[in-house]
Parts: sequence; C-alpha cells; structure tokens
Amino acid sequence: MQILSGKARLAGVLGWPIAHSRSPRLHGFWLARGGIDGAYLPLPVSPDAFAGAVRALVDLGFAGANVTLPHKEAAFALCDTVDAVARRAGSVNTLVFGADGAIHGTSTDGYGFLESLAEQAPGFAATEGPAVILGAGGAVRAVAAALLDAGCPRLILVNRTAERAEALARDLGGFVEVAASADLRGVALLVNGTSLGMDGQPPLEIDLAALPSQAVVADMVYVPLETPLLAAARARGLQGVDGLGMLLHQARPGFSAWFGMAPVVDAELRAFMRADLP
Ligand SMILES: NC(=O)c1ccc[n+]([C@@H]2O[C@H](COP(=O)([O-])OP(=O)(O)OC[C@H]3O[C@@H](n4cnc5c(N)ncnc54)[C@H](OP(=O)(O)O)[C@@H]3O)[C@@H](O)[C@H]2O)c1
Repeated sequence: MQILSGKARLAGVLGWPIAHSRSPRLHGFWLARGGIDGAYLPLPVSPDAFAGAVRALVDLGFAGANVTLPHKEAAFALCDTVDAVARRAGSVNTLVFGADGAIHGTSTDGYGFLESLAEQAPGFAATEGPAVILGAGGAVRAVAAALLDAGCPRLILVNRTAERAEALARDLGGFVEVAASADLRGVALLVNGTSLGMDGQPPLEIDLAALPSQAVVADMVYVPLETPLLAAARARGLQGVDGLGMLLHQARPGFSAWFGMAPVVDAELRAFMRADLP
C-alpha cells in the first residue's frame, strides 16, 4: 500500500487519448520500488486545453510531466527553455518545472533508443555503417538526430510521404538521404519508425534477405512486443531490438529530475511491463 504525504512529488503524462499509455505503470513501478513519496498520473488533455493544462500543473506544484501524442510540438512551443536535443528534434516529451515556475523541455526519445540499442545489441556502434530508417514522424526525428550525433556515417530515410522525409533530411543536414524504397545491402542498422506492424495497423512488408548477417534490426513498435519484423530478423539470425527498451529508457531522465532518484531498467521491470503487453 502506498500512502502519499502532503509533500508528495507529482508528475504525469499528458496525451489525447491517454488510456493506452504504459507510462503510469512504468513510473508507478519505479516509485513503488524506491518507496518514493510521489505519484505519476495519466492526464487526458485535448489539444485545445493543452497550454492551459500545463500552466495549471505548474500552479499545482507538479515537478513536471511527460508529453505524448499529439502534444509534443505544442510542448516545444510552450517551453521557456529547451535544450539542444529538443531543438534538433523540434519537439519535447519531457517537461521539468523550475521552482520559479519556468518550464524546461527536453526530448528523450533519441536517448532512449540509443540506450536500448546498447542494452539489446551490445557491441553495436552507430559508427559501424549506414542506417535505414522507415518513417519520418516525430519519433524518427528524435532517433535520427541521436544516431547522427552518435556518429552514424550515412542515414537513409524511407517514408510513405516523401516530402516529410525530405523536410526532415533538410532539417538534420549532413549525411542524410531520402529513398523511395529500402535498399538493405551493406546496411548496419534497420529501424522501423512507422506505426506499421502495430496491433490494429497494417503489417510492415519488407524483405530482409539483403541485410548483412551482422546487421541489427530495431522496431519502435512495442504492441505487440515481438513484431513480425523482429520475428523475421531473428529467424535470419540477426540481432533484434524491441520498442519496449526505448520506452523504458526514454523515461529515465524525467523520473530522475522529478523524483530525485535515478531509476534502473532491469529484468524485473521488463517482466512487469511485458505482463501488460500482448
Ligand atoms: N518505443 C517507444 O518508446 C516509442 C516512442 C515513440 C514512438 N514510438 C512508435 O514509433 C512509431 C511512430 O511514432 P511517431 O510518434 O513518430 O508517430 P507519427 O509522428 O504519427 O509518425 C507515424 C509514421 O508512420 C508512418 N505511417 C503511418 N501509417 C502508415 C502506413 N499505413 N503506411 C506507411 N507508413 C505509415 C507515417 O508516414 P507518413 O509520414 O506518410 O504519414 C509516419 O512516418 C509508432 O509505432 C509509435 O508507437 C515508440
């Protein structure tokens, strides 16, 4: 049983809808494990109400909040300060409220993706070779920037809407190309950053035969955890990285900032989160 005191630290996740979010379960696990006097709440907030809701959280003394679809860009615009990572991503998923009421924003999706790669594909380095990323949405924006910053020598974006990929390539600059389809020859890392393969969405149709045998395949989708893409990769003997790792690791910086304790991603947490996934 967890009882809050009058000094409990408060945080939450703003999204619309929010019922599907696993973040309250994740942060709730860490709060319980650490015996922390604090709470993390699901906060369903429509786009019209978003700016007012964030200001209300500041007034209510919240320590901060996560922001998910469709608010990540609105959150960026609302912040008093954003760090370099958020500026590069053009969006924010983590808000930290200062004692003076200032709203600080950062984007931890790229960090979460790299940490998950390090955990699930140890030995892989972004510098190893070209990466192909499928998709060009908000999550890809953050992950692509993180891969480039980690030394990825060449990034190829493949997206249904080519203009969106071209705009992202322009924003990122450097070694980023846009292609109409994925040529997997010589590729070190393949990332699915679309919603294809997610429960209720169409499957992702891609032939992995041309991928080199040491390539890594990462899926940002985590419902289901073992996507058909990951199953196909593992059937070929390739290393697979699931989307749950990214979800767990992107949450760490926010939790540390709000609750003053660095949370750990380990097998017990993964099992707890897996129990809630199809
Ligand atoms: N594991 C994690 O922690 C984590 C965090 C964030 C996101 N994600 C996952 O990452 C994925 C993208 O999320 P997001 O926030 O970037 O969403 P988003 O901004 O809405 O982008 C969605 C992407 O999927 C593509 N797409 C959607 N339906 C498609 C279809 N039928 N055929 C081809 N492409 C399609 C879109 O292409 P168009 O540009 O052509 O529309 C776009 O590139 C989702 O699966 C999400 O669950 C995971």
